[in-house]
Order: sequence, then C-alpha cells, then structure tokens
Amino acid sequence: MTMRSPARRTHGRAARTAVGMIAAGLVASAALAGSAALAGASSAATMTLRTAADARGKDIGVALDPNRLGETAYRSIADTEFSLVVPENAMKWDATEPTQGTFTYTAGDQVAAYASSTGKELYGHTLVWHSQLPGWVSNLDGAALLAAEKSHITNLVTHFSGAVSSWDVVNEAFNDDGSRRQSIFQTKIGDSWIEQAFTTARAADPTAKLCINDYSTDAINAKSTAIYNLVKDFTARGIPIDCVGFQAHLILGQVPGDLQANLQRFADLGVDVRITELDIRMSTPSDATKLATQAANYASVVTACLAVSRCQGITIWGITDTYSWVPSTFPGQGAALVWDESYSPKPAYAAIVAALGGAPTPTPSVTPTPTASPTAPPASGCSVRYTSTQWNTGFTASITITNTAASPVTGWVLRWAYPSGQTVTQAWSSVTTQSGAIVTAANAAWNPTIAAHGGSVQFGLNGAYSGTNAAPTSFTLNGAACAVL
Ligand code: XIL
Repeated sequence: MTMRSPARRTHGRAARTAVGMIAAGLVASAALAGSAALAGASSAATMTLRTAADARGKDIGVALDPNRLGETAYRSIADTEFSLVVPENAMKWDATEPTQGTFTYTAGDQVAAYASSTGKELYGHTLVWHSQLPGWVSNLDGAALLAAEKSHITNLVTHFSGAVSSWDVVNEAFNDDGSRRQSIFQTKIGDSWIEQAFTTARAADPTAKLCINDYSTDAINAKSTAIYNLVKDFTARGIPIDCVGFQAHLILGQVPGDLQANLQRFADLGVDVRITELDIRMSTPSDATKLATQAANYASVVTACLAVSRCQGITIWGITDTYSWVPSTFPGQGAALVWDESYSPKPAYAAIVAALGGAPTPTPSVTPTPTASPTAPPASGCSVRYTSTQWNTGFTASITITNTAASPVTGWVLRWAYPSGQTVTQAWSSVTTQSGAIVTAANAAWNPTIAAHGGSVQFGLNGAYSGTNAAPTSFTLNGAACAVL
C-alpha cells in the first residue's frame, strides 16, 4: 500500500542536475531554517524536507526508532519533515523472530501504525541479513536454514502486507571485491539463497516492491557491478526484483562523483533505485567548515537522485546525531545526520531543501529585500529580477533572467557584484562561483537555452551576510548589461 496520491509519482519538471557549489567562502549558516522543523508545517509557506521532496515527486524518508516517538522534538521532526519511514531495527530478524517460529511484531507494528496515522509510506528493512540474527539461526544446516529463511520471509511479508510498500529483501550480500559475502546463508545454502528470498517474498505479497540493498555501492565499483550483474541475471531469468537500495553511509567529502551515473545504470536495467540509509560522517567534533562541506555533500546526493527519474527518493538514517549509529560503529566519527544533538537543523537541512528546489522559510521572520532599482540601466536584450528572503545572517535569492531579444541565448553567464560583502554558500540550477564580490552564474548542463521574445530561466542560491544584505544593482548577461526589474 502506498499512502500517497498517484500524483506524487508524476515527475513534473525536468530533473535539475547541477548544484553549483562555490569553491571558497562556504559559510555554515547554522541558523538557517532555525526551528522551522520544530515549528511544524503550520503555515503553508513553511518549506520542509517533505514539502520540497513532495514537489519533486520523491520520497524523503527517515529511519525511525519507535521508542523515541515520545520525545517531542523527535516526534515533531518525524511528523513534519518526512514522507517515508523505515524501522531502524524493529523489523530485523532478531527483533521479529527471536525464537524460531515465534514472531514478535510489537515494535514493527508501532512503526507501521505511526506511518499509517501520519500518512507516510512504510519501507520494510530487512528480511535476510547476516547481521542482527538471533543465535538459533547459526545452529541450522543447509536445508533447515533455507526452510527458516523462507518461513521468516513469508511470516514477515504476510504480516506487513498492505502496509509495507517495499522491502529490503536481502541486505549486504556482497564483499567489496564483488564476490559473495561468506555469510551463513551463502555458506550453508549456496548462491541460490538470494533468489529463494526474492521468490518467497513475491509469493507472500505480490504487490510489495522487492529490493536488494548494500553499502559502498554508491560508486561504480566491483561491488555495485556485482549487484548490477545480479539484477541483470534475475531479470533475464524471471526472478522477481524491483529495486536496488544504495545505503550511502558516506564520509565527509567523499560523495562519489559517479553516483548519478551509477544510479542511472541500474535504472536503465528497469529497476527502481533509492538512497536508503544516508548519513555523512566526519571526525568529531564538527566545525563550521565541516558542516558546510557536509551540507554540500547532502545536496550532491539529493541532486544525483533528482537527476534519475527512477530514483524514488532518499532516506536519512536517523534524525538527531544523538541517536545515530555512527559514533559507536566508527569511533571518533559522528555528526553525520541533519539535526544536531539539540535537534537544531544543521546547514545540511537548508542545503537539502535548496537542492530539492525549494527555499526553506526561516523563523522567526522573513524580511523581503527591496528589489526595485531606480537606477536600472535601459533595457537591452535581457532583464533580471533578483529577489531574496533573509534572516539574521543568511539569505536565499531567486534570480530570473529574461531574454527580451529576438534570438535565443544558448549558453549563459550572468555576472553581478554583491554590494555588501555577501558570500554565496550554495547555488542550484546554475554553476555558480564567486571571486571577491563578483559572482558568476553559468547555466547548468540542462538549462543552457533562453528562448527569444521573453523566454526566461530561473535559478537560486543561498548566501551569508553580516550587517546589510543589499540586492545587486546591475547584472551582465554574456557581457551585456541587463535591465534590472
Ligand atoms: C544499524 C542501526 O542503525 C543500529 O541501531 C544497529 O545497532 C545496527 O544496525 N546497514 C544497515 C542498517 O542496513 O540496518 C544498519 O543499522 C546500519 C548499516
């Protein structure tokens, strides 16, 4: 069952493929979005991860621990910011079948009830995995293990049928070199354990999407290629498989440059793809520079998913750094999530919203910047409208270039000077750089053309300022001055 209206799956506009990040002057505008998340979606103008993702037809998910839902901030963010939930641990084998043949669904049902009552999609994680297995599984031989695998899958998928829309059927089945992980399933059942899992899941719920999920598969590499080959093989042999999950437990500054290409090659096989467990860890403590890089990294992942129409969305592996699995798993690392330990949104929050094409509405107030320029130069072949909203130290600007000439512009570069020391921290729908006060915004790969006789392009950016945030008063398009509207 999907909780969404069919319209959510229609991908309206062309995917935006470029987020231009400036090389220098990345400023963490930690105040950005303020407590917008905690304030909830009380105002139609409040942009959240969810409203921004909804507008792009993508899921924005979170790994949920139902035991935390009693915490006001946790609950409020979960309620407001996400359209999909996945139980972080509640549907794993040790949680659901601690004794052979005895199924406990209490925690899983809590997550399912929460998803249902809040109108969110429910993603199932995970049916067969070498980790978080109850001890009794390790005593089984090949035939008994296969029977247990099938029984476990049948029971879970049947129990949650109608509630779970997609399952991670098999998790982490491969080694980094592309060989099969020598898990108990692999060593005692053999290669067929994966296809048996998928076939069994399909029989239990023919409508749920069935996914294979793994980590370190975000780039094109031996491991992702092994899964790619598995999908090809399954498809050729009629073994059911609908989707591939890319965990994306990433390290700061190491978003693979070929993430989008990797997602696309799987999509081209005819399966859906999804970022399933996104977090971006850094050595702790964090600082403004690291958080700015992290924001850019989150935006890159979002941008890659947006660019692939079969990418269903992005799931973040938790809400607050306080409960992230990272520090206990990777000692010395942390700060990997989007909300810090006080539930304040980190710069990644605004970066994700911006990458999704929205502008987060800051709290407590939004002050429009005056945009009219009484000294606008006479109209030439172009006009520019620059508008921005600002809060204490940050702003979001929207820039529209209109081509008033009789011939189209193919390939555009818009330049302006910031009058009061503003620095661009992030841009979208353009490739934007800054040198001193001068900002140069060039077209993204997908929007090079501005049609003649009034055609326009629009792009946006986030920036930081101190003191005043005066709008630029003149712009050049490919070297020629534009009218300022
Ligand atoms: C992690 C959870 O976040 C932790 O709470 C738990 O202790 C261990 O598992 N890949 C997966 C997830 O597929 O299920 C893991 O979740 C993180 C790595």
